[in-house]
Amino acid sequence: MTPRRELHSLVMAARAHLDALADSGVEHLPGVLPPPAPVAASRARAPSAPVPLAEALAPVANNRAPSFEPPPPGEVLAPSPRAPAAPVPRAVLSGEERRKRLSVLAEEVASCTRCPLHATRTKTAFARGNPDAELVFVGEGPGTEEDRQGEPFVGPAGQLLDKMIVAMGFGRDDVYILNVVKCRPFEPDDATKDRKPTPEEMAACRPFFDRQLEVLDPKAMVALGGTAAQALTGAAAGITRLRGTWRLFKGRIPLMPTFHPAYLLRSPEKKREVWDDLKQVMQRLGKDSSTKER
Ligand code: URA
Repeated sequence: MTPRRELHSLVMAARAHLDALADSGVEHLPGVLPPPAPVAASRARAPSAPVPLAEALAPVANNRAPSFEPPPPGEVLAPSPRAPAAPVPRAVLSGEERRKRLSVLAEEVASCTRCPLHATRTKTAFARGNPDAELVFVGEGPGTEEDRQGEPFVGPAGQLLDKMIVAMGFGRDDVYILNVVKCRPFEPDDATKDRKPTPEEMAACRPFFDRQLEVLDPKAMVALGGTAAQALTGAAAGITRLRGTWRLFKGRIPLMPTFHPAYLLRSPEKKREVWDDLKQVMQRLGKDSSTKER
């Protein structure tokens, strides 16, 4: 057997063992540490913190995409924003492949009829921003302006979100923005009023969302508002309880819940708390958050 083949079979055997542990309910490997990290980058974790099993299963030698199982409800990531970063293998896909897959998905979404919202939409709002982004923002669903333009967060809440993004030191188009549902939900007796998507509408759209995230594989996510936070973590608590604490999306991607920008437009005094949450995100991504006050 060549050394390469031998390495491959060792990796496969280790993977099978980890899969078996995962199947039997083991979620963490307490003795396993991430390799030392020279760069201050993403997915930082205290050196002594356990590695989520799903991360230990991340692609090794065989370039296999990580599995995307349903998230354990309310799993909390050990808070360690200043810990040395662990370089986690990212991007099994090239930028070109990522764009290709997202554009196929966007076409599927544009012709989707899985829930009744398709009948009243003007356009689907698939996403906006950079498919190579390390940071992804997730909202609830399109509003009037998003439905008209076919892009998420282009209305008043989107303008505030753009300011938040710039305050974090990113360009508007450095990040990727999407919603839990792609078509606009509105009140049946008043089409000018947006409403929360129903559980059925969210479930119908969820496979698209999951495939989008599988392609994007960002270093961190921000859930904007209670609907997105609950949908992505499986937690039942409201956003006031959920915000400010790192969670894991799919057991793997660090996710920070915070207030929705539309809520901030009505309650600007909450901006301070959102900024605290965003600073945690900046720290995790290796951005300087120490001196900035917005
Ligand atoms: N609110 C959202 O959650 N998403 C949008 O795209 C616009 C407003």
